[in-house]
Amino acid sequence: MEKETLLKVENLSVRYATRAGDVSAVDDVSFDLARGEVLGVAGESGCGKTTLALSLLRLLPQSGRILRGRVLLDGTDLLPLSEEAMLPFRWRRIAIIFQDAMNSLHPVYRVGDQVCEVLHSRDASLSRRQARARAAELFAMTGVDPAMMDGYPHEFSGGMRQRAAIAMALAGNPELVVADEPTTGLDVIVQDSILREIRSLQERLGMSLIYISHDIAVLAETSRRLAVMYAGRLAELGESVELFDHSLHPYTRALLVSFPKLHGPLRRISPLAGEPPDLLHPPSGCRFHPRCPLALEICAARVPGWKDYGGGHYAACWNPMEAA
Ligand SMILES: Nc1ncnc2c1ncn2[C@@H]1O[C@H](COP(=O)(O)OP(=O)(O)O)[C@@H](O)[C@H]1O
Ligand SMILES: [Mg+2]
Repeated sequence: MEKETLLKVENLSVRYATRAGDVSAVDDVSFDLARGEVLGVAGESGCGKTTLALSLLRLLPQSGRILRGRVLLDGTDLLPLSEEAMLPFRWRRIAIIFQDAMNSLHPVYRVGDQVCEVLHSRDASLSRRQARARAAELFAMTGVDPAMMDGYPHEFSGGMRQRAAIAMALAGNPELVVADEPTTGLDVIVQDSILREIRSLQERLGMSLIYISHDIAVLAETSRRLAVMYAGRLAELGESVELFDHSLHPYTRALLVSFPKLHGPLRRISPLAGEPPDLLHPPSGCRFHPRCPLALEICAARVPGWKDYGGGHYAACWNPMEAA
């Protein structure tokens, strides 16, 4: 059965204006997401994951500018919408969970009141009691004791704060949740339980999820499909198993080398040497070429196209590892 497409991102490019010049943080990124589907986004720190996430909700900071592209939610391009026209989409249809819950929670208000406020902004007809009851439900659902509703953010542990931020993201009953490294910075056991919570909520509520992490092992557990980002561009996209067993892009392979379950008859490449590039001055051609063990002359000269290898497997590489 063909799944219904919920989100379609087309040729998205985003820049930050800085005193030193323009930072090319996202460049020509395209992907689709079906309703109810989970997509993992992997890549080293600084490769543009957060910029991509913020662009989808049009929450970029002042210096950020979307140069080009479309972000279609259910067929509506969000990018040309006025701020007012954006209101029914942001938080209501697409919500985001930030890496740091303090980006969602205000430090001086009670956590429960903040969730109630979000609920009211969605549905003004809710009475205070109804909103409190719904907030308590959301708390219970995300694993926070509803008795903590009247606490302040600083009274919550890091894990509990992140759960409250998840409750806030779910308050609008969104069709799509973007989770931007929601467990990074928490201790490992808490990370694991929050990860499982998000996955189980996603399944239960049937929402679509974009799960962003620099940790490929986490993504392997969460996402059936995976997008690998390098220096602002997508390197590869496809079913996770396919990416693991038949990586096309040498960068994908390099990311996976550290992943213990992977040992197959693959062309082995050495672990990734060198630093991620400075996006103020991105490398010519394929942005990965200076670090790529398989680079050819053309790689420095021309940007590789986004090629369809069939079965939903895409890569941008002049010298793919396992081109069928
Ligand atoms: N507000 C900003 N102003 C200028 N440059 C920024 C800003 N935010 C991020 N960047 C730059 O954009 C690039 C992508 O950053 P980001 O999207 O945060 O990556 P990631 O989330 O993958 O770590 C990096 O080079 C980063 O330094
Ligand atoms: Mg980030």
